[in-house]
Amino acid sequence: MPTDLDLVIEGGTVIDGTKAPRFDADIGIVGTRIVAVTRPGGLARHAAKRRLAAHGRIVAPGFIDAHTHDDLALLRRPAMEFKVSQGVTTVVTGNCGISPAPLEADTPTPQPISLAVHDGEDDGDGRNGAVGRGRFRAFGAYLDAMRAAPAAVNVAPLLGHTTLRARCVADLGRAANEAEVRAMQAHVREALEAGAIGVSTGTYYPPAAAASTEEIIEVCRPLSGDGGDGGSGPRGVYATHMRDEQDAVLASIDETLRIGRELGVPVVISHHKVTGQANWGRSTETLAKIGAAMRHQCVALDCYPYTAGSTMLHNDPVRLQGRVLIAHSEPHPGTAGRELADIAAEWGCDKMEAVRRLQPASAIYFMMSEADVQRVLAFEPTMIGSDGIPLGPRPHPRLWGTFPRVLGHYSRQLNLFPLETAVWKMTGLTAGNFGLEGRGRIAEGAFADLVVFDADAVLDTATYEEPQRASAGIDAVVVNGQAVWGAGGDTGARPGQVLRRGGSRMQRG
Ligand code: ZN
Ligand code: CU
Repeated sequence: MPTDLDLVIEGGTVIDGTKAPRFDADIGIVGTRIVAVTRPGGLARHAAKRRLAAHGRIVAPGFIDAHTHDDLALLRRPAMEFKVSQGVTTVVTGNCGISPAPLEADTPTPQPISLAVHDGEDDGDGRNGAVGRGRFRAFGAYLDAMRAAPAAVNVAPLLGHTTLRARCVADLGRAANEAEVRAMQAHVREALEAGAIGVSTGTYYPPAAAASTEEIIEVCRPLSGDGGDGGSGPRGVYATHMRDEQDAVLASIDETLRIGRELGVPVVISHHKVTGQANWGRSTETLAKIGAAMRHQCVALDCYPYTAGSTMLHNDPVRLQGRVLIAHSEPHPGTAGRELADIAAEWGCDKMEAVRRLQPASAIYFMMSEADVQRVLAFEPTMIGSDGIPLGPRPHPRLWGTFPRVLGHYSRQLNLFPLETAVWKMTGLTAGNFGLEGRGRIAEGAFADLVVFDADAVLDTATYEEPQRASAGIDAVVVNGQAVWGAGGDTGARPGQVLRRGGSRMQRG
């Protein structure tokens, strides 16, 4: 061990991200790596540039957010306080079929692409901008922009199939033709070479709903990695916001599994849920199907710990049945935080007409049962992903609260699973599924992505009424050896890296 350490975290109790029982240890860091995990006091005599006291606290690997839409926030809000304040040190971007590349300046970006690719709440105009301002012609250019101006957290980027369709398919109302499939494949190859960790789809959404299963398989073919390039094993994962999470949810799981099998790649079922009152309770069926499939193919899934979802304002009648809160509306910004039913009453129209007038807009839908949410969360192989949308003043509270809510509410208060399991679901499990080597665990040689938290106090404070609130109980966050969050909040350090995939090791619990 080098005698000069850059940082020592001493006196803490380590939960190492593998589900192993906690143990007391000191941690020594040089540069971006953990170089020593010793008995308590073992580093007391070593010279260190900085010491962080963690007495009475848990020291865990930094949390990996398995499902985000932070693609542009990383560039525009590089402090990433809504994630760092939860203990998150890595975000997986490009989900639900949406990524900011490859897009030309004049590529139409219908919803939901515009939710993630928007030219800027920070720039004030809310309209789509030119290439270079929220749009990148090639995936490599997007990654270069993040390397040139790093954020506080690491990013593991997916390429979105809906974005590819917007760029390459002349009529979004039909499946792609052969030439369009070839054009999309070329972009997939470019993205994988540049560093994408996989491809995502969002066939639930209008611009991708007409894509056939065959289109997806062909577009994603480069993920297979057996293309005679000497590479072995899959070159990326396939992540999906499935076609249907309502009545046809089982058929959607079958489609996802088939795509994974035909390509020979790991699949990730995004934000798994069953929606619509008629389907409440059916997570018993979906989890049984997913669990059975895991015996012969690589399947992962993630979940956010709330009974409401959030996405583009959609005229889906099942979604409009329940309570709907407007999160943001471009033509009517004053409606953010209000109920759709009240807005419709005030305007003297029905909900469908109000939806039409509010577009483009996003909303929060109360559409799941608490029992299903708990069953999916407690399913051993379920990872934690926020699905937060960093847009507007009234986002879904999951953007700021997901990880402390799992630790504080579901693990500590409801005892749904032990704290070691909760930490694993947001660290080691996730790193294994996405192939993020050296992340998600505390061990000598691993990257120094760490969070120090108070197991008795950690809890989300963000609510639907006041969603932009930092969680309680997160004391310090370290990314690649540098403190990014502490008692004074953001430290100003921006050590985030663009992570590459080193081969998934899917874990089943
Ligand atoms: Zn989604
Ligand atoms: Cu999403």
